[in-house]
Amino acid sequence: MNKDSFMGGTAVITGAASGFGLETASLAARLGMNVVMADVLAEPLERAAAQVAELVAKSGAQVFAQQADVRHAADIEALGAATLARFGAPHLVFNNAGVGAGGLVWEHSVKDWEWVLGVNVMGVAHGVRVFTPMMLAAERADPRYRGHIVNTASMAGLVNLPNMGVYNVSKHAVVSLSETLYQDLALVSERVRAHVLCPYFVPTGIADSARARPRDARDDEAAATTSQRIAQRNIEKAVSGGRVTAADVAGFVFDALVDDRFYIYSHPKALGPVMTRAEDVLRGGNPADPYRERPELGAQLRAALKPA
Ligand SMILES: NC(=O)c1ccc[n+]([C@@H]2O[C@H](COP(=O)([O-])OP(=O)(O)OC[C@H]3O[C@@H](n4cnc5c(N)ncnc54)[C@H](O)[C@@H]3O)[C@@H](O)[C@H]2O)c1
Repeated sequence: MNKDSFMGGTAVITGAASGFGLETASLAARLGMNVVMADVLAEPLERAAAQVAELVAKSGAQVFAQQADVRHAADIEALGAATLARFGAPHLVFNNAGVGAGGLVWEHSVKDWEWVLGVNVMGVAHGVRVFTPMMLAAERADPRYRGHIVNTASMAGLVNLPNMGVYNVSKHAVVSLSETLYQDLALVSERVRAHVLCPYFVPTGIADSARARPRDARDDEAAATTSQRIAQRNIEKAVSGGRVTAADVAGFVFDALVDDRFYIYSHPKALGPVMTRAEDVLRGGNPADPYRERPELGAQLRAALKPA
């Protein structure tokens, strides 16, 4: 398999108006795929779809955009039905929409938990639930069919840094869901494959996830706590300082599909803490200090969190 084999296929991408979703949609378009783009934000989605439509103009492929809130089963079911009706079963499903929220784990509100788990976990679960059966049916009907499901987790799905609890929980769930999907598919299928994307910090809109927080998911009354303000500042800094681009990550995704690799990393050199965590688990000891290489960072965070 090479990148030319995507030509004429169909990619479905959630969170397609920005960041990894938009760059993957653009690359899919350049590879000659029909692109189905979904996002909760209507206007950014419309602009992104127009941008991607220019890229498919030459290949004769098509772009179709549909507003969808991945938290809602009905939205993803409608997306699935629209995709099937227009293009047939997709060849790539990128369950990518995600949001971030930080702060001490006991300070997340009920709305924070519902929003972040709703988007990051249930969004992926709905994508898997709706699209996998279509892809398996396509595999049975056509011996040349190949399908890929890519779920976006994070390095936060492989380690647990402090002060970002709900996000860590959501991304560990996505890694678990994806590894299970990989194993389940291996029981019944040879040509529908699962992959998990675990990026480190990459400049995208993720630090401004609040823009995509629907009214029903907001805490209108609650002011941000100290830990939440610190987490927000830290994520803005970490993301804006990233050198790997979202377009690079889109390239890594397609490379992994071609190579048939499950784990997809943006920063493979940053995997040391994953090994440390595995060693902690195996030793049955305590989780290592995440700041042991940079103790000044841990000291700063402790000082900032000290009650006045
Ligand atoms: N950028 C990073 O550093 C980084 C690192 C690790 C993981 N990730 C993950 O990458 C994925 C993509 O994020 P990104 O970095 O491109 O950020 P982004 O904010 O640029 O893009 C996310 C997109 O998801 C959309 N979205 C949010 N809630 C939605 C909902 N309920 N339904 C549908 N769409 C929704 C947003 O409108 C936005 O267009 C997320 O799952 C994120 O958690 C990002």
